[in-house]
Amino acid sequence: MTVLTKTLVAYQTIHGSTKEAASMTAKTLEEDYQLQIDIHEFEENKEYPDISEYENIIVGSCIFHGKWGKNAEEFLKHDFTGKKLAIYICAGFAGEKELYEQALNIFLRGNIDKYTHLKTISIEAFGGRVPKSKIPHVWFLQASKRLANFRYDTRDLVRVKDWAHKLGKVFAEENN
Ligand SMILES: Cc1cc2nc3c(=O)[nH]c(=O)nc-3n(C[C@H](O)[C@H](O)[C@H](O)COP(=O)(O)O)c2cc1C
Repeated sequence: MTVLTKTLVAYQTIHGSTKEAASMTAKTLEEDYQLQIDIHEFEENKEYPDISEYENIIVGSCIFHGKWGKNAEEFLKHDFTGKKLAIYICAGFAGEKELYEQALNIFLRGNIDKYTHLKTISIEAFGGRVPKSKIPHVWFLQASKRLANFRYDTRDLVRVKDWAHKLGKVFAEENN
């Protein structure tokens, strides 16, 4: 009997980078690993997907003022036992070489380590994009102190695609 392997990509976004990363990941897993993918965008007051249907789960969140999207973070409270779980964030600083490690530690590990039940197969931090009109003054000042050149757009879909390939291989290996 063939057991269907279903994969969920669930994400929260405001300005679209986390969605873009979700779409690229889903497309790569579908086309190159023949996985069946469902995509779910977390929004306020919307039900969570039923995770019992999925073997592989990828959760993505945008980062604003160092924090996760509320619904994406709440979703982490589910019991993912027996699932292959991967988590990513999109944050402006994570796309800067000199701030990447800090962003990974503070925005990703710092936010998920408190959920001690979570066992992940992979975590990753990607850059993002800030619409010029939306950039908060305080955040801009902080960023300018840490960076020689502040960039509004630090997205890199090639890195996202590489990560999707890494996940695809792990999902395929463990399914055999
Ligand atoms: C009000 C505001 C606060 C932000 N705070 C942070 C932050 O604390 N750290 C960071 O690296 N990027 C920060 N950013 C940049 C966002 O992470 C970036 O816009 C990212 O693309 C958000 O994900 P999304 O495009 O999926 O909404 C901030 C942007 C705005 C507009």
